Amino acid sequence: MLQDKYGRPISYVRLAVTDRCNLRCTYCMPEHIQFVERKALLTFEEMERLLMILTQMGVNKVRITGGEPFMRKGLMDFLDNLSSIELLKKITLTTNGVFTQQYLSKLKALGINSINLSLDTLDAQKFFQLTRRNEFQTVWATFEQMVAMGFAVKINMVVMEDQNTEDILPMATLAEQYPVDVRFIEEMPFNGEENRHPVLKWDYVRILEELKSVYPDLKLMVAEPHSTSLNYSAPRLKGKLGVIPAYSRTFCGSCNRIRITSQGFLHTCLYSKSSLNLRSLLRSGASDQEIQLAIQQAVSGKAKNGFEAARLNKDSLSASMSTIGG
Ligand code: GTP
Ligand code: 5AD
Ligand code: SF4
Repeated sequence: MLQDKYGRPISYVRLAVTDRCNLRCTYCMPEHIQFVERKALLTFEEMERLLMILTQMGVNKVRITGGEPFMRKGLMDFLDNLSSIELLKKITLTTNGVFTQQYLSKLKALGINSINLSLDTLDAQKFFQLTRRNEFQTVWATFEQMVAMGFAVKINMVVMEDQNTEDILPMATLAEQYPVDVRFIEEMPFNGEENRHPVLKWDYVRILEELKSVYPDLKLMVAEPHSTSLNYSAPRLKGKLGVIPAYSRTFCGSCNRIRITSQGFLHTCLYSKSSLNLRSLLRSGASDQEIQLAIQQAVSGKAKNGFEAARLNKDSLSASMSTIGG
C-alpha cells in the first residue's frame, strides 16, 4: 500500500494528459502561454505503464485532467486501455466541455459515468470574458447531453470578485433544475502570471452566505475525509451545492492524492515545488520495481501541509493550473 510518512494512504492520482487547452480562462493561464514541446509530453504508453505500476501500489482512482484532456489525440483509445486495468476502480475526467459531446456515448460504454465540468457563468458574453473564447453554446449543449445521458455531473465554478459573483445564484439554480452538483471554488493563485495573485474576497464562508440567502435550509452532508468540497443538500434541490475552500482552508490532513503532470513529473502536492521526474526514469529503461521504489520514496516525502509551506514561500504560486494538472 502506497502511503506517506504520516500514514496517509495514497489511492487517487490526477493525471494531466496534456498542458494544452482550447480556452484561455483568465484564472488559469495567460492568452499567450508557451506550451511544452510535444516530445516532452508522456506518451499514452508511458502513462499506461505508470498507471499499471501505481495500481499495483494501491491507487484505485484516476482523474484525467489537463489542460483540456480532449485536446490530446487518441484519448479515447487510452481510456479504453485503462478501462481494462482491473485494479483501477474509478476513471473520471475534468473537462471544459467544448470537444466532449461527441465522446459521451463512448465514455458511457467504457463505464465512465462521472464527469466534472468547468463552467463559471451562464451568460455567453461573460463566458467570453472569462475564457477569452466564444464557446458557451457548445459547452451548454454538452452539459444538457450529459444530463440526458445520466452522467453524474459536477460543475466547477471558480468564484472571482468583480467577475462572476453575480452568477453564483443563477448557477446554483442548475442544481434545482437538474440532478447535478454545482461546486463553487475559491480562486487559487495558479493563473500562470507572476504578480497576479488573487486577493481572496470571496472565500467559502462568503459564498455560503450568498447561497444561504436563497437556500436557508442548506444541510451539510457527510463527505469522505479527503473530499475537496463541503457538500450541502436542501429540499428544493435535485443535486447538491458544494463549496471548495481551495485557498482558505486545506484538506491536507486527510489528503489521498498525488498528481502527474503532462511531462511526467510526479507532484505529491498541488503546492509542492519538488517533483520526481518519471519521464526520465521511464525513458532510461528503469524496471517497474525501480519505478515503484522511486515513487514510494517521493510519496513518503509528501509534505504534511504543503499549503502552509507554499503560503510562506509565495514564489511557488505563479504556475498555470494547466501545467500543474488541475
Ligand atoms: P472529485 O474527484 O470529484 O472529488 O474531484 P476533485 O474536486 O478532486 O477534482 P476537480 O478536478 O473537480 O477539482 C476541483 C477543484 O478542487 C480544483 O479547482 C481545485 O481548486 C481543487 N483541488 C483539486 N486538487 C486539489 C489539491 O490537491 N489541493 C487543493 N487544495 N485543492 C485541490
Ligand atoms: N483556482 C481555482 N480553480 C482553478 N481551476 C483552474 N484554475 C484555477 C484556479 N486558479 C479549476 C478549473 C477546473 C479544475 C480542475 O481546476 O476550473 O474545473
Ligand atoms: Fe483550459 Fe481548464 Fe485552464 Fe480553462 S481552466 S484554460 S478550460 S485548462
